[in-house]
Amino acid sequence: MRRETSGPAIVRVEDVYKSYGVGAGRVEALTAVSLWVEAGEFLALSGPSGSGKSTLLNLIGALDTPTSGSIFLEGAVLGGLSRTALARLRRDRLGFIFQAYNLIPIMTALENTEFTLALQGRPKQQRRELALEALAQVGLAHLALRLPGELSGGQQQRVAIARAIAPSPAVILADEPTANLDSASSGALLDLMQDLNDRLNVTFVFSTHDPRVLERAKRIVGLVDGRCTDH
Ligand SMILES: Nc1ncnc2c1ncn2[C@@H]1O[C@H](COP(=O)(O)OP(=O)(O)O)[C@@H](O)[C@H]1O
Ligand SMILES: [Mg+2]
Repeated sequence: MRRETSGPAIVRVEDVYKSYGVGAGRVEALTAVSLWVEAGEFLALSGPSGSGKSTLLNLIGALDTPTSGSIFLEGAVLGGLSRTALARLRRDRLGFIFQAYNLIPIMTALENTEFTLALQGRPKQQRRELALEALAQVGLAHLALRLPGELSGGQQQRVAIARAIAPSPAVILADEPTANLDSASSGALLDLMQDLNDRLNVTFVFSTHDPRVLERAKRIVGLVDGRCTDH
C-alpha cells in the first residue's frame, strides 16, 4: 500500500519481495509490498499467522534483507550499507520491543535503560539523564534502582519501553507485543504506547492479529499471504 504524502517518510518499503528456502521448499513470504511510514505514525500491520508480518518487521528492522526491492530508513537505502553501518543504524535509529522483555537480570531498571546509550558511547552523566528521563516518561522514575526481579511483569515491560525510547529512535518496531499478555496488561501496554505517541510523537509500527489491538491503531496495513491489502 502506497500513500502519497507530504510528511517525511521515516520508513519506505518499495516493491519488496522476500522468499525463504529454495526449490520445492521455497516460500514466498512477501510479494510486491510497498509501504510508507511517516514520523508520528501509530501503525499496525495486521494479518493472520503466516501472512508475513514478522518478515516485514525484520526487514524494516534491518535484521534481514529482501530478496528484491528496497527499504529506506530516513532516506538511506539499507541495501547500500555495510554490516557495521547496519548495526550502528539498528543501535541508533531503531527501537525494538520484544515479547520477552529481554532485560538483564543483574542490572537495575536504570542500568537496563542506559544499556543502548552506553553502547553508543555516550558519557555517563548524559546517559544517566536520558535514562532517568525515559523512565519518568513511562512512570517508573521512582523504581529506577530496582532489579527486574523486583518489578512486576507490567513494570518490566515499561522498563523495556524506556530502554527503547531512551536513544530517541526514528521508529519503534514491535512484533505482536501483546501476544503473551492478558487483556489488562495488553490494554496497559497499548495505553503507554499511545501516550508516548501522543505526547512525544514517538513513531510505532507494530504487528498484531488481535482485534482489540487493531482498534487502537491510527492506521492499519493488512497483509494476506505476503501481499498488502487495502483497508
Ligand atoms: N526463517 C524462515 N524460513 C522459512 N520460512 C519462513 C521463515 N520465516 C517465515 N517463514 C514463512 O514465511 C511466511 C511468513 O511468515 P511470518 O513473516 O513469520 O508471518 P507472520 O509473522 O505474519 O505470522 C510463512 O509461510 C512462514 O512459514
Ligand atoms: Mg509473526
